Formats: sequence, C-alpha cells, structure tokens
Amino acid sequence: PHGTLNGVAVPFFATPEFRQELTEKFKLRPESDVFIVTYPKSGTTWMQNIVRTMLMSDDTPENAQLKLDDRVPYTDMSLNFPFDKIEGWPNPRAFKSHHATPSEMDKLIFKGDRSAKIIYVMRDPRDVSVSLYHHLKKTGLSKFVEEATFDEFHKQYMRNSDVVYYGLWEKHVDSWLSKRTEFNMLVIRYEDMIENSSREIEKVAKFLGAHLPSSRIEEIAELTSFSTVMHKGGLLKDESGVTNSILRKGVAGDWKNHFQDKEEAAKMAKIAEELYIKYNLITPNLE
Ligand code: A3P
Repeated sequence: PHGTLNGVAVPFFATPEFRQELTEKFKLRPESDVFIVTYPKSGTTWMQNIVRTMLMSDDTPENAQLKLDDRVPYTDMSLNFPFDKIEGWPNPRAFKSHHATPSEMDKLIFKGDRSAKIIYVMRDPRDVSVSLYHHLKKTGLSKFVEEATFDEFHKQYMRNSDVVYYGLWEKHVDSWLSKRTEFNMLVIRYEDMIENSSREIEKVAKFLGAHLPSSRIEEIAELTSFSTVMHKGGLLKDESGVTNSILRKGVAGDWKNHFQDKEEAAKMAKIAEELYIKYNLITPNLE
C-alpha cells in the first residue's frame, strides 16, 4: 500500500496503515536504539556507516564487515520495515527516518519515553537539491526529473510545497531542531563532517557513550570515508546496489556547478542562514 507522487513512491510511513502497525508493533528499546533522522540526501548513509562501525568497535574491521547485520542491524523506517524481525534483533539497533515528524516519533514510537538517541544530520539545502537531482536521475524513477534541467527540478522538488513529498527542507530542519532539547538529540552538519570527520565522529562517540581512543576515531573516519566506501565498498557492500545510487561526489558546495538561477541559490542560502542563526549553529561559508 504505497502511492506515487510525480513518479516517486510514497513510503508506507505516510499511510494510516503503516502508522497503525508501527504504533502496535514497534517496541522501543530506549537504552540502546539509535535513530538517524535526516532530510534525504543530507548524509544519512555516511552517518549510518559511522554509527554502525562505532557500535561494533570491539570487532576487527574484517569481522565487523562480515557480521554487520548481526552486530548492528539497521533499517529504514518506511518501505519494507521488517516488523516481525526487529523484535528479535540484538542491541543496539539502528533506524533511519526521513519521514517521521517529531510529533509522530513521539506518538508512534517513543510513546512518552524520549530517552532514545536521535542523531539529526543536516546539510546545505542547495547541495541537498543537487544530490537529490542526481539521485533521482540515476534511479530513473521520474520522467519529469529525467528531462528536467537542474533549475526546473529544484523548483518542483525542493520548492513546490504541494508536491515535495518530504516537505520543504526548512520545515524538516526547523521542526526537528525546535525539539533539540526535548529529545535526546545530537545535531551534526554534513559540512562539518567534510571539514573534519574525526572531530564530528568524536561528538557521535560521546553522544552514544562509546569511549574510544583517538586512534579508533581516526580509524572509523578512514573506514567510513568517501574514498574507502567508494573504492572498497565499505559497509555498503552489504546492501546490494546501494553504493552506486548513494555515493556520487561527496563534497560541499557542488551547488555552484548547478544553479543557473543565482537568485534562487541566494534565496536558499538565506533560508538556511536564518535557521543556522535561529539555532545557534556556526555558519559555514555561505556565499
Ligand atoms: P552527493 O550526491 O552530493 O555526492 P544520503 O545518504 O542522505 O542519501 O546522502 C547522500 C549524499 O551523501 C551524497 O551526496 C553522497 O555522495 C554523500 N556521501 C555518502 N557517503 C559519504 C562519505 N563517506 N563522505 C562524504 N559524502 C558522502
């Protein structure tokens, strides 16, 4: 039971049936469950790799790869959510969600206990748009995207609030950041990870209560780096086909090579900047 929007599947999370099932069947483990929440294309997979690698830090890298799904099982809280399996999964379990709003998370999943850990990853919306454009082009799900120029795509998929399934970027970010202190939540910026991944990985380690020596932090940075994952498959090796559609360029600022409409790019930058200021995030070089 899922619908289609501009040729893109609308995941189960959006349907009343999925919500109902989630409410009834999902049993939270507040002590150990980790939720990675993002607007799509913001660095979800990178964070997923970091968290999973970190949580099995006592394994050798080789073992970690072999036993990944046994050690830190991971799933998307939408399409094909394996309700029956996750009950039997060992701790810690990791979940990702693009769709859940904070109030849905509260109502359907937390049910009053807000102690479970949430890592919210955010990225410059101009780069998010670029990444989404290429992702949808590559996956060939939408005829519109296949034929659209970047600027046309951006207008339709990032700015047209009537049709953008995940909603406007600023709404996603604002709704989650506004709950930053009410939930047990860590906010990480993609641009900061690009600038210094070890520094950000250390924040994640602290947040998850993992006491790791700096050598291990460096190692995790290396194991989850763009080039490792790109060339050696990394953890993504386990998920058939994901590597190719997720990894593209892995940089900050590729929007400069895409926006012909400079006014629109400036508008997006302003929207982002306002949120960075509102939530006291140090502003990266927004030009
Ligand atoms: P680009 O399309 O700009 O390259 P998500 O996982 O949320 O779908 O995000 C995908 C984006 O994160 C892609 O951006 C992808 O290349 C980038 N990414 C994934 N792993 C990365 C890594 N280890 N380092 C840097 N960027 C990474």
